[in-house]
Amino acid sequence: MKYTKIDDEILNDIKGFIESGFVYCNQEKLSEYSRDETEDLIFRPEIVVKPSSTSEISKLLSYCNTRKIPVTPCGARTGLSGGSLPIYGGISLSLERLNKIIDIDERNLQATAEPGVINQVFRDCVEEKGLFYPPDPASKGSCTLGGNLAENAGGPKALKYGVTKDYVLNLEVVLPSGDVIWTGANVLKNATGYNLTQLMIGSEGTLGIITKIVFKLIPLPTKDISMLVPFKSSEMACQAVSAVFRAGINPSALEFMDRDAIDWTLKYTDAKINNLTDNIQAHLLIEVDGNNIELLYKDCEKIADVLSEFDCGEILIADSKSQKDQLWNIRRRVSEAVKSNSVYKEEDTVVPRAELPLLLRGVKQIGKKYGFKSVCYGHAGDGNLHVNIIKGQMNEVDWNKNLKKGIREIFEFTKKLGGTISGEHGIGLVQKDYLDIVFCQKNIEIQKSIKNLFDPNNILNPGKIF
Ligand code: LAC
Ligand code: ZN
Repeated sequence: MKYTKIDDEILNDIKGFIESGFVYCNQEKLSEYSRDETEDLIFRPEIVVKPSSTSEISKLLSYCNTRKIPVTPCGARTGLSGGSLPIYGGISLSLERLNKIIDIDERNLQATAEPGVINQVFRDCVEEKGLFYPPDPASKGSCTLGGNLAENAGGPKALKYGVTKDYVLNLEVVLPSGDVIWTGANVLKNATGYNLTQLMIGSEGTLGIITKIVFKLIPLPTKDISMLVPFKSSEMACQAVSAVFRAGINPSALEFMDRDAIDWTLKYTDAKINNLTDNIQAHLLIEVDGNNIELLYKDCEKIADVLSEFDCGEILIADSKSQKDQLWNIRRRVSEAVKSNSVYKEEDTVVPRAELPLLLRGVKQIGKKYGFKSVCYGHAGDGNLHVNIIKGQMNEVDWNKNLKKGIREIFEFTKKLGGTISGEHGIGLVQKDYLDIVFCQKNIEIQKSIKNLFDPNNILNPGKIF
C-alpha cells in the first residue's frame, strides 16, 4: 500500500483547519500514541491530531482522502487487539477532546454523547438521574465510549444486559470522503432500510469516524449481591455455569477466574481472599441485581443449591459496598496482573455457554502440547473465556515457533465448539491472520467490499480486521 508521507506543506495545511495547538509532532506525543494495551506492540504515527468538532474531522478526512494519508482513530488506547495502532504511520486521530455529554433525555431514557467521554463518567452522570448504561469493560475508568463502540465492548454486565451495540440507537459519522451522515433514528424500533448503526459498531474505526452517539438507557437497578464461589476443579466450575441458568436464574454477572488468575492478581494488588486453600482451582464471581433485596437473597440461595452439586467450597456472600468493591476490583485487575508477570499473548475466545468446560479443557491440553501455560478467566456466563498464553521461561525460538500454531489450534477448536475468535476485544491487528478459521472466503469478500464502499482509498485505520 502506497501512502503519502506527511511533509511540512501537508503539516501546514492540516494546521490550517485544526484548532491551533492541537496538531502534535513532538517525539514524546508520538511515542505516547504509538501504543495501546495490546501486548508490546509499537507503531509510531507521523503526527497526532486532536480535533474537537465534527467539522474539523470532516475537513481532515476529506483532505487525507484525496492525498492518501492514513488516519487511525483512537480513544483512550486501552484496546487489546491493536485497533488504534497507526501501523502505516500517518495521523493518529485522537477523539479525546470530543468529550461532552450533550443531553440526557429523561423523558425518553436516552442520552447523546460524544465519543471521547470516559465510560465511567457517562455511567455516573446517567446514574445521578436514576438511569443505567450497562456496558462495563474492565477498563471502564479510562476507556472511552467511542472506543467501546469501535470494538463493541462488553464487560461483566453484558451477561444480563447485553453489549455496547444493544444500547446504541443512532450515530453521527464522518465518512472518509468528509461527508457527514446520521445512521438511524432516535427510536427503540427501526425497520427502515439497512442497519448502518449496527454496521458501524464493532467496525474498529475502519468505516467512518463516530462523532455523536445516541444511547438507549434503562432504569437503574437499586440492589445487588455478589457471591464468590471456590471450586476444587476448574472444569467443575465451568460446568456449574450453565446449570445456574437452567435453574431459572438470570444473574447480572457470572465470571470465572482460574487459580493462577486469582493468585497473580492477589499478589499484584495486595488484596486478600479468605480460606483460599491449596486445593482450590478456580472461582466463580456471581452477581444478582434487581430492586427487591429479599428476592435477591432467595436467588443467592438457589444459586448456592445448584453450585453445591458441583462440589463447590464455602461461598462468600458480599452484600456491603466495600466487600463488593473489593471482589470486583480483584476481577477487573486480572488482565493487568497477568500481563505484569511475563511476556504473553491474550485471546478472547467465546463459545455457546454449555461448551465452556470443553473449551477450557481443550485450551489447557493445547497449552501442554506446545509447552506453554495458559491463564484463563472471563465472562463465563457468556461463554467468553479470556486466555492468556504465558511465555514464562520458554525460550524465544520455541515461543516464536509454537505460539501461532498453538493459537490456531485453540481457535480451530473454539470454532468446532460453535464459537468464534473474539467476544469483545475485536480482531484489530493481532487476530486478523485467523479470520479464515471462522469465515468462508465469500463472507470475507463481502466484508472487504463493504470496507471498499465506505473507504475506497483505504485511508481509515488501514491494515485492521483483514
Ligand atoms: C476483562 C478484559 C480483559 O474482562 O476484557 O478483564
Ligand atoms: Zn473481558
